[in-house]
Amino acid sequence: MTVSRSEAPLIEVRSLTKHFRLPGGWLTGKRRVLHAVDDVSLQVYTGEALGIVGESGCGKTTLGRLVLRLLDPTAGQILFDGREIAKLKKSELLPLRRQMQVVFQNPQQSLSARLRVADIVAEPLRTVGGIADDQSRRRVLGLLEQVGLGAQHLDRYPHELSGGQCQRVAIARALALDPVLLVLDEPTSALDVSVQAQILNLLVDLRQRLGLTYLFISHDLGVVEHVCDRIAVMYLGKIVESGPGKEIFAAPGHPYTQALLGAIPSQMSRRGVNWLCCRVMSQVRQPAIWLSIPHPVPVGTGYLPD
Ligand SMILES: Nc1ncnc2c1ncn2[C@@H]1O[C@H](COP(=O)(O)OP(=O)(O)O)[C@@H](O)[C@H]1O
Ligand SMILES: [Mg+2]
Repeated sequence: MTVSRSEAPLIEVRSLTKHFRLPGGWLTGKRRVLHAVDDVSLQVYTGEALGIVGESGCGKTTLGRLVLRLLDPTAGQILFDGREIAKLKKSELLPLRRQMQVVFQNPQQSLSARLRVADIVAEPLRTVGGIADDQSRRRVLGLLEQVGLGAQHLDRYPHELSGGQCQRVAIARALALDPVLLVLDEPTSALDVSVQAQILNLLVDLRQRLGLTYLFISHDLGVVEHVCDRIAVMYLGKIVESGPGKEIFAAPGHPYTQALLGAIPSQMSRRGVNWLCCRVMSQVRQPAIWLSIPHPVPVGTGYLPD
């Protein structure tokens, strides 16, 4: 799906880098530095969905957290709507928090078990939005309806909902403050395959209806292809290839992308065979594929000397 994109990027990162200092090894005692995100540059345009794809440990979540400024970058620039935000203080970031929201992988963990759905979704409205309780209930109901839930869910606790319903609540909460950007970090990875398809279709629909911009993180190219206009392939902290999904699927340039593409039944996908069927197949085939990906160094251990 392609949504018309504006001229100036909503998000632009330039040479973004995040190093984590790790404790020294027990043999040498020398501290190590892990290059989780390494000189990444990318743009996300208003109304666009950019997919960040790569296997576990390659730095996708760290990149998403940097863009949201939940982490401080080691180096590089982050421009939000043309404004440099990489060095802003917490207080300066507050007004921006309304505009950027996040949906995490595991909805049951990301929702407070002690709160009812109505309070979970109302929380940002009360704390950041300054909306009174009587108004917020109406707004919460509207948000729940937007994600396919209703009044019957208002007074339930997360443990009384299915995984898919919990993720809908998390999406409703993320939409509460009318953000322009959603960072979706593996939003369907913890869900059953059939539920994954429903949530992905909901996300596609919401983007169209609300004109949202997505940074969509996933280890699964099939999922990313379904939701995103452009794809950036991440490997060991770097973006190794990016472009329109169709082009990457037709002619993957980097060996890692080729290996990732081997993980989904691409011929079926290109012929437009039911997407859900492809997803089931890709899940079945996954373990063999991960073994076939060439790793110059063990993934997730991109340690360099201090
Ligand atoms: N706070 C942290 N401290 C140290 N290492 C971290 C921290 N957060 C992430 N890492 C490491 O950074 C690398 C990238 O992690 P992450 O961004 O979560 O990858 P992905 O989301 O692609 O699975 C991993 O090796 C992970 O162990
Ligand atoms: Mg992650």
